Amino acid sequence: MPSTPTFIQLMISVMPIDWTQYSLAELRRHSTTVFRQGGGSRPDVMLIEINGEKAVLKDQSGADRVFAALIGPILNWRETSALRKLTASDAVPNLLAVPNKRAFLMSYHESRQITKLVDQAIDWKDFFDLLEKRIREIHKLGIAHNDLRNPTNTLVTPQGQPVLVDLVAYFSRGARWNFVKHWLFNKFCQVDLSAITKMKMRFAPELVTEQDVHPEAIAGRSGMAARSVGQWIRKISKSLLTSRKTREKD
Ligand SMILES: Nc1ncnc2c1ncn2[C@@H]1O[C@H](COP(=O)(O)OP(=O)(O)OP(=O)(O)O)[C@@H](O)[C@H]1O
Ligand SMILES: [Mg+2]
Repeated sequence: MPSTPTFIQLMISVMPIDWTQYSLAELRRHSTTVFRQGGGSRPDVMLIEINGEKAVLKDQSGADRVFAALIGPILNWRETSALRKLTASDAVPNLLAVPNKRAFLMSYHESRQITKLVDQAIDWKDFFDLLEKRIREIHKLGIAHNDLRNPTNTLVTPQGQPVLVDLVAYFSRGARWNFVKHWLFNKFCQVDLSAITKMKMRFAPELVTEQDVHPEAIAGRSGMAARSVGQWIRKISKSLLTSRKTREKD
């Protein structure tokens, strides 16, 4: 006859998992889906399932060896710092664990990238209103996302709610006396809002209004020049630190 579970066994079965007790190798062994295969300058992003609970692992060691060794810890530190600063916000995943200096684990949100909603009916007006609310919420907490113009960083849940991921490029407001940083922060907040305009133009152009923010209006010519300098720095670091084979796939 099967024995009745003890009180302690029952408690353990309903207690949420302590994700911090798992090593990176153990977490990777429990991977069930790969959202993004690492390589070049890109990390592995994978779904981890343990005892029926799910979390997402972002592991910079999936990038090319030199890139992972030199840049991986910086990217991991940046993204975990942003998630820590946004603990109070529902707009982004929760940070669950940092198994080593190149990887972190975050809460899983059942969702699809906004570009991959095939059969899901979305009320775009409600969606974009909520997206703007969420973006303004993280700005209030002192963080500009700074990579929302890449639509793969906006996820949509089955209930039509936005979730923002990939905070590695974030910019923080900084101290009150730091006027330069404040000025830049406000510009980056505008860039975040311009991502909404970009997505509206693609998915629901009828919702674009005069109040929507357009990128050219934010920074003018100097801003566009700064952007292309940034893109060049990224290209150069990629060609120095990653292999040709993975660069071509990237
Ligand atoms: N917390 C999460 N919950 C559910 N899915 C997630 C989560 N985090 C990431 N993903 C999935 O993994 C994908 C890649 O994540 P992320 O953008 O952080 O990595 P990336 O290396 O920047 O990839 P990309 O270059 O494609 O943007 C997301 O577009 C999303 O589909
Ligand atoms: Mg991304």
